[in-house]
Amino acid sequence: DSAMSMFEVHPSSHPRTLAERTAALEHLAFGTVFSDHMAHAVWTPDAGWHDQRVEAYAPISLDPAAAVLHYAQEIFEGLKAYRHADGSVWAFRPEANAARFAASAHRLALPELPAAQFLGSIEALVATDLEWVPGSAGSSLYLRPFMFASEPFLGVRPSKQVDYLLIASPSGPYFTSGFQPVSIWVAEDYHRAGPGGTGAAKCGGNYAASLLPQQQAIENGCAQVCFLDAATNTYLEELGGMNVFIVTDDGEVHTPALTGTILEGVTRRSILQLLADDGRRVNERQISLAEITEQIASGRITEVFACGTAAVVTPVGALKSTGFDLTVGDGVAGAVTQWLYQHLTDLQYGRVEDPYGWMRR
Ligand code: COI
Repeated sequence: DSAMSMFEVHPSSHPRTLAERTAALEHLAFGTVFSDHMAHAVWTPDAGWHDQRVEAYAPISLDPAAAVLHYAQEIFEGLKAYRHADGSVWAFRPEANAARFAASAHRLALPELPAAQFLGSIEALVATDLEWVPGSAGSSLYLRPFMFASEPFLGVRPSKQVDYLLIASPSGPYFTSGFQPVSIWVAEDYHRAGPGGTGAAKCGGNYAASLLPQQQAIENGCAQVCFLDAATNTYLEELGGMNVFIVTDDGEVHTPALTGTILEGVTRRSILQLLADDGRRVNERQISLAEITEQIASGRITEVFACGTAAVVTPVGALKSTGFDLTVGDGVAGAVTQWLYQHLTDLQYGRVEDPYGWMRR
């Protein structure tokens, strides 16, 4: 509560009416609707973090010379708050996002936001906009914390003014098709991040770099792009905005190891734990594209799935690129993928007890 009190609540003078909110919460897509408030804090070298507030959701004003607009000194996070059957609202592993936000800040030479303030901003905003947490099946309040360089200065050095914001978006599934298999396009001429780069940080620039290859994926009938490692163009890394897993016919599960160029997903880590606790062998290792294409073709690989906060667990039905077009298994969601989706969402929506302490009220 002391953390929460850092963020002083200044209620919006124009919150939407019950009728407006009810209409906004119908037929939810991903990331199009925003709640009435946002959390905000400012950092300067002398004062540190200050002016922590929850205030009306509104456009922000930026100097055209603000460093973020020129040099992309920016990081973000993504996590969700879920409404349980008894009406209570819970965030999934927010401490993990706080830790990753601090690690991303370090890589982008941004000031670290203490975990207590990160968590305090979430508690304060979710408490203020509690009615914006949807209760319909498969929906949640997607929380988007982010931090950027706001100092008006064109020199290339870390900004001496930084803004932290947290916005909240009542959301439905990321893929409009829901829990349906998607196709994945393996990028040929583009990579997401290289050794020593920003691949392990959650910075906007990584996602900007994914957009052109992602567009090519869509032109080829695929929902997501898959990147290979930049150093050798051999090993699977991750998709445009989610991690990737494969299941082999011996029941083992495999996912690319954390090499420093891929994002350490909170969902990825949670899935590894759920599988291990279910008695399955999980392998974090380098997985080559050659291995994948051969073993999908031979039937040795029985399932491929993607995971992330936004994507939850999404079956991958096909893997394509210029030289191949492979259907995974029968092209439908496999047993492990279905089990994981069920088990993870049961925990998140409070349908089963949480033995891990992952949910935070
Ligand atoms: C997530 O929150 O799952 C992300 O990685 C961000 C984006 C793909 C929606």
